[in-house]
Amino acid sequence: MFNNQFNSATIEGMLAAPGKKWHTHPPDVIPLWIADPDFPVAMEIKKALLNCIHDEDLFYNFDEPTMEAMAKKVTRRNGLEAKGEDILITQGVIPAMWLAVNHACKAGDEVIATDPMYFHFYTAQEVTGTTPIRWPISMEEGYKFDEETLKELVTPKTKLIFVCNPHNPAGRVMTKEELKAIADIAVDNEITVMSDELWEDIIFDGREHVTLASLSPEIERLTMTTWGFSKTFGVAGLRMGYTCATDEEMMASLRRLSADITRTTNNMAKAAAPVMLDHRLDWWRRDVVEHLEMIRGICYKRLDELPNVTYPELEGTYLMFPKFDYGKTSDELDKYMLEEGKLAFEPGSKYGAQGEGHLRLCIATSETIINDVFDRLEKALAKLK
Ligand SMILES: Cc1ncc(COP(=O)(O)O)c(C=O)c1O
Repeated sequence: MFNNQFNSATIEGMLAAPGKKWHTHPPDVIPLWIADPDFPVAMEIKKALLNCIHDEDLFYNFDEPTMEAMAKKVTRRNGLEAKGEDILITQGVIPAMWLAVNHACKAGDEVIATDPMYFHFYTAQEVTGTTPIRWPISMEEGYKFDEETLKELVTPKTKLIFVCNPHNPAGRVMTKEELKAIADIAVDNEITVMSDELWEDIIFDGREHVTLASLSPEIERLTMTTWGFSKTFGVAGLRMGYTCATDEEMMASLRRLSADITRTTNNMAKAAAPVMLDHRLDWWRRDVVEHLEMIRGICYKRLDELPNVTYPELEGTYLMFPKFDYGKTSDELDKYMLEEGKLAFEPGSKYGAQGEGHLRLCIATSETIINDVFDRLEKALAKLK
């Protein structure tokens, strides 16, 4: 049985709630653009937040208990022997991308990221004067992370590889073999790796999430791994992420760089963290995936009915990335869908050249809303034929 709270969203209900997702466009538009789920917040999280305010825990407070809880989770679920001091708390995952470049590179050094990829990885490269190197992955080849292509991109100037697993927007969950290939290349060439594993819980069909740094002590030494809470629990507004680096020198460097800029987060987020890190919400992690598998099934069925549309299998994340062969760029299609279809997507080209022709949509919603989305999409595409 599906837990109803994951399937309860209605357009009226979402419009009555706060948040950027549903209030950026006019109310007759269904938003699919930002990766926020249309689920309520778990009662356990709300209680922890309310307790924090009730206890007036609003002074400067320690980070160490939260760091300890994060380290325990990393040890329990990610296969690394982490201690509290191996953890850095950041305001969401994005600041860790900037930290990674600043830690590993100087201007002119090369940073490898896949194309397509979540565009904030590209921003981190742009603002640091490093040279972006794109590792193309293509839908036609099943978004395979090809080892030979990566090897050819590595030069003596390569100082950082960005890994996103599960992958936004390709929806891939990397296999152990793919991760091992990246690890071998990084170790052979002494390249730092940032592994963004924010989507670790949203994995389908019984696949296993493998933490890159857990593959060997050699790759662990070179890797900083980052997680957060925003995708699984719909709490992006708490602004909390955490990075684990068990290499002392790397962690010292990350702490120094972040000291007065992106350090720590607010007390309310820290109060809610233990609930999301230990066993208490394991049921939520399980039920959310079960609901999303059902929604993914509807998406597959409805996408199959659309002419000139192809799409990658969704192995993980709640972001679908279909390609539309209608003689329009993704920017043009995005604009058309907003005006004609009353649907707000993200244009695929925002995620790199390989995203051209694609639209990205967040499917973390109810059965009712996702069916409304496909009814609108079908009608709008029919007018393009
Ligand atoms: C891969 C990836 N990393 C980072 C983020 C941003 O996370 P946060 O808002 O917690 O910084 C997102 C958001 O969708 C994401 O998909």
